[in-house]
Amino acid sequence: MRIEQQQHARIFVIDDEASNLKLIDRMLRGQGYQNLILIDDSREVLVQYQVARPDLILLDINMPHLDGYEVLSQLRALDDPLLPPVVVLTAQHTKDYLLRALASGARDFISKPFDRNELLMRVRNLLDAHLAHRLVYDQKSILQSLVQEQTEELYHTRLQVVQRLGMAAEYRDEETGNHILRMSHTCALLAKQIGWDPVQCDLILNASPMHDIGKIAIPDAILLKPGRFEPDEWAIMKSHATVGARLLEGDDSDLMCMARDIALTHHEKWDGSGYPSGLAGDAIPMSGRIAALSDVFDALTSVRPYKKAWSVEAAVDLIEENAGKHFDPALVEVFMRELPTIIEIRNRYAE
Ligand code: C2E
Ligand code: SIN
Ligand code: SIN
Ligand code: FE
Ligand code: FE
Repeated sequence: MRIEQQQHARIFVIDDEASNLKLIDRMLRGQGYQNLILIDDSREVLVQYQVARPDLILLDINMPHLDGYEVLSQLRALDDPLLPPVVVLTAQHTKDYLLRALASGARDFISKPFDRNELLMRVRNLLDAHLAHRLVYDQKSILQSLVQEQTEELYHTRLQVVQRLGMAAEYRDEETGNHILRMSHTCALLAKQIGWDPVQCDLILNASPMHDIGKIAIPDAILLKPGRFEPDEWAIMKSHATVGARLLEGDDSDLMCMARDIALTHHEKWDGSGYPSGLAGDAIPMSGRIAALSDVFDALTSVRPYKKAWSVEAAVDLIEENAGKHFDPALVEVFMRELPTIIEIRNRYAE
């Protein structure tokens, strides 16, 4: 490692004997090390560590109050992924003594009385290794936070695009964009009640606003027609499901996949009489079944260019009658049980 970086490294020297501190200080300064922190009371080590994280620690073992082993275990308890190497300063060389220091987390030893060359070599080698480790660690965490930032940004951008697309589709045949708010919150509520996890519930909340995105391609003369459709008009209107799915193709994010499923299947019916594919029962994705129920309830109780708003009672009657015909009967059951909350959502996002 570059000499310059070495010389700026912070080194703790911990020894209760002032003469030892002075000696090491002189030897290291003589080699150009400038950031030495001398500590003669081992009870101060932790505080100093928080103030200025060292790159290397030289540690005496036999000290009053807190001995070197206790300092080592305090340091380990910090759980610092960048804990610097600790070198034990010792006059003893019994095997037990050395093993215990190693087991406590010491990296190496320097014998007393100090040999200048041994001290300098140990310090240089251990600092080298630690500074390299720190460099790699810093780069890794910078990378990690960059990746996370970009992932979050992408998610939020996509969400914005998705919600605005949904609003754009609804603005033409509705007074406000509130239909998609009521519809999507009802979807998330039903999903939660059938046991979807929070991530999936969040997905359907954000994917369902695009169910009618295909209406963008329907001419005003048809979409806004106050009366009933001729057969050719009806055929064009029904194309909004496949057109919507095509618009949402080509992005394999979970959000877009679910949005596409919903656009494509929100007019399928449980008994197979829906469009565009005539799917029945379990062949209809659950997300599409949930969207169908939430969409029809809200469409019925809202004003449209071709119809007045139904009362909640009339809408609920139609839904109950259609359990097992238009709608998944198990979902209708959940819908009935959750009706008070669904009405609450309706009121919260009223026109
Ligand atoms: P939408 O207005 O958002 O309605 C969504 C779904 O709610 C309808 O899907 C239907 O299942 C249900 N729904 C809405 N109003 C009524 C109603 O008065 N009676 C009954 N029984 N169900 C109702 P659907 O039928 O596949 O229609 C899809 C879209 O086609 C509708 O979306 C709407 O934009 C358009 N549409 C349907 N019928 C007419 C119509 O007679 N005139 C015009 N201008 N548009 C229509
Ligand atoms: C879930 O995992 O909670 C259900 C997901 C799904 O059906 O798409
Ligand atoms: C979906 O919910 O998007 C599809 C999962 C299923 O088939 O239920
Ligand atoms: Fe639709
Ligand atoms: Fe709708």
